[in-house]
Amino acid sequence: MKIRVLGSGAGGGFPQWNCNCHNCHRLRHNQMNGKARTQSSIAVSTDSRNWLLFNTSPDIRAQLEAFPAIQPKEGIRDTGIKAIMLIDSQIDHTTGLLMLREGKPLEVYCTDMVKQDLTTGFPLFNMLADYCTVNHHPVPVDGSSFTIPGIDDLRFYTQALKSKAPPYSPHRHDPHEGDNIGVIVEQISTGKKLFYSPGLGEIEPHVMAAMQAADCLMVDGTFWTEDEMCTQNISLKKAREIGHLPQSGPGGMIEVLSGVKKARKILIHINNTNPILDEDSEPRKMLDAAGIEVAYDGLEIDL
Ligand code: MLT
Ligand code: MN
Ligand code: ZN
Repeated sequence: MKIRVLGSGAGGGFPQWNCNCHNCHRLRHNQMNGKARTQSSIAVSTDSRNWLLFNTSPDIRAQLEAFPAIQPKEGIRDTGIKAIMLIDSQIDHTTGLLMLREGKPLEVYCTDMVKQDLTTGFPLFNMLADYCTVNHHPVPVDGSSFTIPGIDDLRFYTQALKSKAPPYSPHRHDPHEGDNIGVIVEQISTGKKLFYSPGLGEIEPHVMAAMQAADCLMVDGTFWTEDEMCTQNISLKKAREIGHLPQSGPGGMIEVLSGVKKARKILIHINNTNPILDEDSEPRKMLDAAGIEVAYDGLEIDL
């Protein structure tokens, strides 16, 4: 299985258009060893030709332009995107659907909860109906498996997670099963497994089980500390409150991952305030010592 990181940043990307935080300022002024990042999306394939896209970020146009394997190959209109899976209905994970409006029917796999948001609070599906058809395929929230036509040799297991629905959603403070999912992608012929979960607020037992079974993890790398946005005077929001487990500290992602033996461990969905974006920082050295990688745009993994 081939995994391509299209965008490794959280909402806003890095640097964020209006942000002057320690990281964004230094990256803009070439004062830091780090990489710019677009917003959260990956693509997976087993033949490098037919791809399942996870999330459609507002940066999708640039992400596709940077990735020849997914570009048109034959006929007057063509794409390597055979289907799309949305892990939630966040603006930074779904807005790119609008940029795909020139396409043929869009085959979109998401939970009924996500569909509800995308037909009410952020009615992308309704709007797109006048440009291209959106075929919604509901995905399970109980970890049961399914396959996707056109995406050969991959099997998917989707499970509900404790994270958060977007600020615009009626579910923001009223969690529903299926507001967010984690996905296990298994290559049928090899048994290799990826666990993808860019929004992970809590490590429930089924999450730990998925992590232990996986060969590669791409998990929530949004924040280093619980109060990172507060201490930088950006927002009063705490990491866990908005559905993201911080990396450092007791019960944080580093501690959780230290209990995972087999998998390659990669953080993804990195917020622009996170000190790990500075490749010379102490937090980054702590990750190195723990054997945890930080995803970047264009990273490709052969599993
Ligand atoms: C999230 O996934 O929590 C987002 O990155 C939030 C946002 O878009 O601001
Ligand atoms: Mn996000
Ligand atoms: Zn910033």
